[in-house]
Amino acid sequence: MKRSTLFSRAVDAPPSAGRPDDFAYLEPGEIYLDAACQSLRPQPVIDALIDYYTTYNACGGRVKYAWGQKVDARVADTRKAVLNLLGLSAKQYAVSFTLNTTYGLNLLLQQLPQGRFGRIVTSSIEHNSVFLPTITAARRLGVERLVLVRAADGALLYDAGQLERAVVVVNVASNVDGRQLTNLAQLVSDTHARGGIVILDAAQAMGHSRALLQKTDADAVCFSAHKMYGASLGVVVARHELLSSLDLGFVGGGMVQDVREEDFDLVQGDPGALLEPGLQAWGEIIALGRAIDWLGTVRPGGQAPARHLAGLSTRLFDGLAEIPGLSLLNHEPSPVISLYAPRQDSHRLAVFLSHSKVSVRSGYFCAHHYLKQQLGLPPLLRFSLGLHSTASDIDTATQALARLMKGLS
Ligand SMILES: Cc1ncc(COP(=O)(O)O)c(C=O)c1O
Repeated sequence: MKRSTLFSRAVDAPPSAGRPDDFAYLEPGEIYLDAACQSLRPQPVIDALIDYYTTYNACGGRVKYAWGQKVDARVADTRKAVLNLLGLSAKQYAVSFTLNTTYGLNLLLQQLPQGRFGRIVTSSIEHNSVFLPTITAARRLGVERLVLVRAADGALLYDAGQLERAVVVVNVASNVDGRQLTNLAQLVSDTHARGGIVILDAAQAMGHSRALLQKTDADAVCFSAHKMYGASLGVVVARHELLSSLDLGFVGGGMVQDVREEDFDLVQGDPGALLEPGLQAWGEIIALGRAIDWLGTVRPGGQAPARHLAGLSTRLFDGLAEIPGLSLLNHEPSPVISLYAPRQDSHRLAVFLSHSKVSVRSGYFCAHHYLKQQLGLPPLLRFSLGLHSTASDIDTATQALARLMKGLS
């Protein structure tokens, strides 16, 4: 039965009920609903970063003194933790760190070898971080680019022939409505059977929908630590064969064994280093290890994170669906919900909500092609939940929006 959330708040529970203590720094009354952009960082992650900067601020991979040795050990731990989280083996996959998901996808796509692939395949409901680099990569390789449709359940709709020697690049969870790549395993196996590869944009999935990615056979997974409770950092998990097939154009210190006037030898036995020219964000890498530990132990509201978030997603979906004058894009609850009010400007609504300390996104969320060109929509509002979110946050935000809509009608 649908529960009315708009005017029924649990009066006896404090507003922070269900919020892990690790977000105690959040000012009372601040309601942050933009976790799809960046999650709030739990205190242990912030502490790990401060600890690095204040007690062993050395670079990794090159120094022999004690601080550097500690950095190397912790960075190696983070690489292991990333693989463990995905259920992947270091024998097949390497972990590289970079700036963000966008940068990781570009590093792979812009360095694919000429002649090996016949086409690039993506979908219409992709973030600009996939949509744009697939355009430029197809141009560079001189191959066609197919933009396929995703079903309402998130499955990519394709004929097997379209996967012939294809580079398939798609998201595992959408940043518009949270829909997931429900046919991921089949897609990977069909693509491999036709000589192609699959590169996944897991930016939204790593925070809350990792189950789909478990033991994936995909060729690469790109994501951002800042969307999964870590500091600002990008991660690429890629098969050794893909890394060693790249036609490297971004090169520099940290990835070479030896250098001559007109030539150089790449580092051997460490394929992940091929995507890591130059000094890395050591503190942020170490903090990602801490974020992964934290994700394994946190129990918001005494529940497993996925369960907790599922409950909050339903509350948010029901609360928003009750407000007259809104059109929701989501057909079902998700930690990411987008909507618009046909008669109101979304940016104006976001500014008004901000006066009530409710922070939500407005615009096209870097999904311009899908939202603006394909669906022909005006700028939208997006509410996205994280593990800092509480039932009270949701009720306050939906009530504020309901009041606003009533006042403007
Ligand atoms: C689905 C999806 N892909 C890619 C990105 C790009 O991530 P970043 O800005 O960290 O590179 C985002 C960011 O919101 C996203 O939601």
